[in-house]
Amino acid sequence: MATTSNPAKSNPTKIDTAKLKEVRNAVDRLYSEGRTAERLMEGIAELLNEQMLKYNWVGFYMLEAGADPPMLVLGHYRGAMTPHVRIPLNQGICGAAASSGKTVVVDDVHKDSRYLACSLETKSEIVVPIFVNSNVAGELDIDSHFPAAFGAEDRNLIEYCAQLVGKRIESA
Ligand code: SME
Repeated sequence: MATTSNPAKSNPTKIDTAKLKEVRNAVDRLYSEGRTAERLMEGIAELLNEQMLKYNWVGFYMLEAGADPPMLVLGHYRGAMTPHVRIPLNQGICGAAASSGKTVVVDDVHKDSRYLACSLETKSEIVVPIFVNSNVAGELDIDSHFPAAFGAEDRNLIEYCAQLVGKRIESA
C-alpha cells in the first residue's frame, strides 16, 4: 500500500498541537482584553466549543454563594441544553471534581457510575476545578462525542483556561 504524504493523515498529533497552541493564544487575547470574569467565561466557552472539534459541550459551573449544602450552578455554556443546571457536590463527575479539588478525566463516561448524562452522544468528559484564593469556586466542564478525547495537552489547555478565570475573579 502506498504511504500517504498528507501531514494531517500521517501525523494528526502534530496538527492537534498546532491547534492547541493557536487556541491558547486566543485565550490569552481574551484575558488581556481585560474582560470581567463573566465575559471571560462566556468567551472561553464560545472559543473552545467553536475551535476544538472534539469539545462538543463546554460550560462553567460555579459554587452558589452561601448555599448549604454546597451547590454547583450552571453558568455560561455552549452546546446542547442540559438538564443538570444545579449539581450537589456528592453527585456526578462535576461534584467529584469540585469536592476533591482535582481535575477528573473520564475516557468512557458509560463506565463511570458517577456520570450524570447530559446527552446520549457524550462519550468522554473532563472537569477542571477553578480556584479563587486557593478555594474551589467552580469548574470548567467539557463533554465530547468522542471516546478518550482529552489527552495531556487538552488537559493543559483546559487547566490554563480555569486558572485564568480564577485569577480574573481574584482580581475583581
Ligand atoms: N456529566 C456531568 C453533568 C454535567 S453535563 O455533562 C453538562 C456530571 O457527570 O457531573
